[in-house]
Amino acid sequence: MSVTTTDEFAPVCRLEQLEVERGATALVHGQAVAVFRTYDDTVYALGNYDPFAKASVLARGIVGTRGEIPFVASPMHKQAFDLRTGQCLDDENVSVPSYVVRVVDGVVQVGPRQQV
Ligand code: FES
Repeated sequence: MSVTTTDEFAPVCRLEQLEVERGATALVHGQAVAVFRTYDDTVYALGNYDPFAKASVLARGIVGTRGEIPFVASPMHKQAFDLRTGQCLDDENVSVPSYVVRVVDGVVQVGPRQQV
């Protein structure tokens, strides 16, 4: 069993500061995290580092959906990553870290890395 304590969540910004379908970067627990808000006001957080491009660019990617799957496509080589899990949709062997996100009183908080 894993226990999540509240102090593992780091406030990032207010929800309304995030542009819909755009990424923003934040430093959380020493990691560069890309935070995304989708059109339905769900917020996701992935590692910002694109393992294909070997560059920290995912926050500048293009947000969309493939079927039911919300994703961000890297601005470099266009690989898509599932916003919920960090799984690459184009290469099952590749994934990026994903983080638990919550919104408390309008403030986006990024928590621990998700176990997928
Ligand atoms: S250690 Fe600095 S925000 Fe978590």
